[in-house]
Amino acid sequence: MSSITVLAVVSEIYPLIKTGGLADVAGALAGSLAAESVEVVTLVPGYPAVMNKINTAEAVLTVKALFGGAARVLRAKVVGLDLFVLDAPHLFARPGNPYAGPDGRDWPDNPFRFAALCQIAARLARGECPGFRPDIVHGHDWQAGLTAAYLTYDGYPRPATVITIHNLAFQGQCPAALLTPLGLPPRAFALDGVEYYGTIGFLKAGLSLSDRITTVSPAYAAEIRTPEHGMGLDGLLRARSESLTGILNGIDDAVWNPREDAWLAAPYSIQTRAKRGQNKPVLQKHFGLAVDQKALLFGVVSRLAWQKGIDLILANLDLIERIGGQLAVLGSGDPSFEEAFRAAAKARPGRVAALIGYDERTAHMIQAGADALLIPSRFEPCGLTQLCAMRYGAVPVAARVGGLTDTIIDANEMAVAAGIGTGIHFSPVTSGTLGAAIERTRKLWDAPMVFDRLRANGMKTDVSWRAPAAAYARLFRDLIPAGAQ
Ligand code: ADP
Ligand code: GLC
Repeated sequence: MSSITVLAVVSEIYPLIKTGGLADVAGALAGSLAAESVEVVTLVPGYPAVMNKINTAEAVLTVKALFGGAARVLRAKVVGLDLFVLDAPHLFARPGNPYAGPDGRDWPDNPFRFAALCQIAARLARGECPGFRPDIVHGHDWQAGLTAAYLTYDGYPRPATVITIHNLAFQGQCPAALLTPLGLPPRAFALDGVEYYGTIGFLKAGLSLSDRITTVSPAYAAEIRTPEHGMGLDGLLRARSESLTGILNGIDDAVWNPREDAWLAAPYSIQTRAKRGQNKPVLQKHFGLAVDQKALLFGVVSRLAWQKGIDLILANLDLIERIGGQLAVLGSGDPSFEEAFRAAAKARPGRVAALIGYDERTAHMIQAGADALLIPSRFEPCGLTQLCAMRYGAVPVAARVGGLTDTIIDANEMAVAAGIGTGIHFSPVTSGTLGAAIERTRKLWDAPMVFDRLRANGMKTDVSWRAPAAAYARLFRDLIPAGAQ
């Protein structure tokens, strides 16, 4: 198999900069595609967190004026990632996360910041970096959406383009008046171009103008073609059905490996999973919960956002206590949820505890020490925490939506009898159905052999990137004209 080259375009990448699963996917997919003879070079913004980790780099492109300042593109290898870094201090040398300042508010010039990323992507796609000519340009989410637009309207032949939707809730819209300032021609403002309900839509542009669209699970690929989950884009996605596929995410099984996890008090494998129990009291102490092997310990590792159904967990705290359970929450996000968990922890000492913030070590400790992981998402394009939970033997208790549908086998009576369940599903997504799922978890927990079977089934499931990477590689190769490979 001859090798092909992909230019990936993304606004965050693990382990350099991460706000969610997008970064995990960008990092791990690039690495996994190497086994498929697909070489990926990823273009990312030069945020301080990225620039600080570069040791040696070569400037491969210099741009005098990029939306109000000079910029360079650096080629660098950082922690095994092959990167183009867009060093544009006037756009990216700022505190905060990739999208917002320390006050949590989005930067007002985000349209220009990510249009800059897309313009540079288009120039790299055209071969402006000597020795680099990609066969495919693979953009992720709205931040990469204008890449296909710049490649379309400059009128030159272009490499094939793929856009992956990680979350339709973030669409990147800006006023139509920015069309010319963004360097787009008047004809781009069309129904089959960047126009979106009278504004400019970055994601909409990517979905209209890319050769292929993927999303991160087959179930979400079906859901987003319905008005209920399409967030205004379902019509376009239905029209592009032939070009839309769902490819499930995996997780990096080197980062998430319970046998060799240095953050665990007692690493374990499926064979030695009896040792897993030693991680539970350590987790309980870490959170200040009562140390009690018999308490059914629920964990949460999540952005604290409406999408994730966090309010539904808050509505079930009484129930969790009543069934003799405990809750350990790790997360950050919406200040009202952060406050609600702080208050709940105070009101229910030893039973409910919350660490507000982002902490990878604690995330690993929860996956290894909790008995079950709560994931009551209202929608979930794929979800990675249920995959981590399964690999670590925490039983996912999850809404039956999106990728959670595709990755978990509900332990109903039939599945238990057949010995194939891997978790607990509920739908529709309400506090009542979550409560019923929590009670069902308690019943399964009361049958230790059955519960252990659920754990073992999860741990046996292949949640790695191997199969998904092969699927992306097939999709990319299908887009390259015969003879060019
Ligand atoms: P989303 O991208 O919608 O937030 P995913 O489940 O796809 O959801 O990915 C979330 C990723 O972020 C997982 O790798 C998860 O372990 C991690 N994560 C979420 N919240 C935290 C946190 N507070 N601390 C550490 N890791 C977190
Ligand atoms: C988004 C989605 C999540 C998905 C992740 C990576 O953040 O919310 O479901 O797993 O992207 O694709």
